[in-house]
Amino acid sequence: MGLYSVSAIRRIFANETSPCCLPYYRGNSQIISPTPRITRINEQNVPAFKTIRLQALRDSPTAFGSTYACESQFDEAEWQKRAANLSGDRGIGFIAVDNDSPFGIIGAFPDECDARTAQIVSMWVAPTHRRSGWGSVLIDAVRSWAQAREIRTLRLTVTSCNYGAMEFYRQNGFAMTGKIFPYPNDPSIIEYEMAQSVPPTSFADSP
Ligand SMILES: CC(C)(COP(=O)(O)OP(=O)(O)OC[C@H]1O[C@@H](n2cnc3c(N)ncnc32)[C@H](O)[C@@H]1OP(=O)(O)O)[C@@H](O)C(=O)NCCC(=O)NCCS
Repeated sequence: MGLYSVSAIRRIFANETSPCCLPYYRGNSQIISPTPRITRINEQNVPAFKTIRLQALRDSPTAFGSTYACESQFDEAEWQKRAANLSGDRGIGFIAVDNDSPFGIIGAFPDECDARTAQIVSMWVAPTHRRSGWGSVLIDAVRSWAQAREIRTLRLTVTSCNYGAMEFYRQNGFAMTGKIFPYPNDPSIIEYEMAQSVPPTSFADSP
């Protein structure tokens, strides 16, 4: 398989139902690394999933509802269970990997009461790889999964102090819904809901 630019990966995800394992290079033939790629979370890459999730919680403590203190106590069976939940009908998860080191993660779960809506969770890109398009690639991967499942709305929550993430989500097609929720870890913070519609796949989208 050849190397793809971030924009090419986004185009591929826009047209594929099962995106997986695409290597990456940045324009002008400058290869950043032969191996950066995204791959689905599954029961075979639980150690990478655990590593990246704990890094995310430690790096961005006010971005998530859960905490490093809580999840660092999970045993291996709990990580296996969570990976399984992100790799089948119950949900989807992707990690971005560079030279076998994970540097990004995203998950999504269909709403239990509304199969045409899914909630994005756990969005995180390591500081070393930010502002290079990888967060957007991970969102695109979830959007492609959603299209394939005929999910019509993607939702997420973002904390009121997380201005960078709000702008990132706006740039990726999300808008505030007006709903707010209490943030469990700090009463001075609230969570805003953002959402976007997922267009149905059509033949017109094909190359
Ligand atoms: C938010 C986050 C996932 C973005 O990942 P990323 O890989 O840097 O995002 P991208 O490179 O795809 O950004 C796409 C565009 O979004 C916008 N954007 C991204 N991060 C931004 C920031 N911190 N401030 C303002 N705009 C931002 C920019 O318009 C950017 O395009 P540009 O770099 O050409 O200007 C990453 O900063 C992160 O992991 N933050 C900490 C965890 C977090 O807040 N997660 C969200 C939980 S709800």
